[in-house]
Amino acid sequence: MTRFPICALRSVALDTPNLAKSEAFYTEEWGLRVSARDEGVVYLRASGDDHHVLALHAGERSALRETAFRVEAEADLAGIAARAEGCTILPNPAADPAGGVCLTLREPRGMTLRFVHGDVRHSDAAMVANVPLRLAHVNVNSVDVDATSAFYQSVLGFKLTDRSKLMAFVRCNADHHAVVIAEAPVNGLNHVAFLLPDLESVMRGSGRLVHAGYPIGWGVGRHGPGDNVFAYFVDPLGVVVEYTAEVLQVDDSYRFRGPDEWRWPPGRTDHWGIAPPKPEHVKQAQLAVPFV
Ligand SMILES: [Fe+2]
Repeated sequence: MTRFPICALRSVALDTPNLAKSEAFYTEEWGLRVSARDEGVVYLRASGDDHHVLALHAGERSALRETAFRVEAEADLAGIAARAEGCTILPNPAADPAGGVCLTLREPRGMTLRFVHGDVRHSDAAMVANVPLRLAHVNVNSVDVDATSAFYQSVLGFKLTDRSKLMAFVRCNADHHAVVIAEAPVNGLNHVAFLLPDLESVMRGSGRLVHAGYPIGWGVGRHGPGDNVFAYFVDPLGVVVEYTAEVLQVDDSYRFRGPDEWRWPPGRTDHWGIAPPKPEHVKQAQLAVPFV
């Protein structure tokens, strides 16, 4: 069985030009709760044990500040640093309420990644219907998908699970993917996906968003690679976020499939065949959030 030095995707940090509005959306509608606060930052937790899954920072524009992963052992931090050719090692932030031992680096296409060991975990984790349990994946845009995919594999020890024409799906545990790398004209954030307990929760959570005035941007549907159900939304500051559930669980016996095998019949974009074509404004939003 493959040993992954990185064992989980923990959290993302976003800059927002309207912290109060972003916080209201993610707490009142999306289903997260405040875990901690600091000057100009709010840390939001899901129902699982991660200290926070989303940190919102007051900033000039919506942007992806950082993505944090948990490593299996403290020694894995040194291993990643030693392999991080072409990356810039950054100073760790002075204050992080999740604590732990960290390594922070900027990868060659400008995304900041933090690796954490021994971070604070909540003792009251619970599966709660209709709200996020944890992050499911981060989807990043890359002008060079294969180079970014190779970075995740060679430096971070991920495995390539599947490759469609436009996207590489890489994993660091049994989830089919923790990171998706999407072909794009710019590097940046495509979207952040939050794991809900089940399909029913994706449907009911989506209903809650629709009722609150946030229509489904794309979906509901069931993805090809990963077989997960999905509903995409655009948050009030332009960040695309996804509710997902039923992510395919894989191990070393999983058979990789490439672009020739991941093809839809004409007009179809999901397994069920019910997701309408993705609207232009969602496609634009998926290209509009840069890395800090
Ligand atoms: Fe996704």
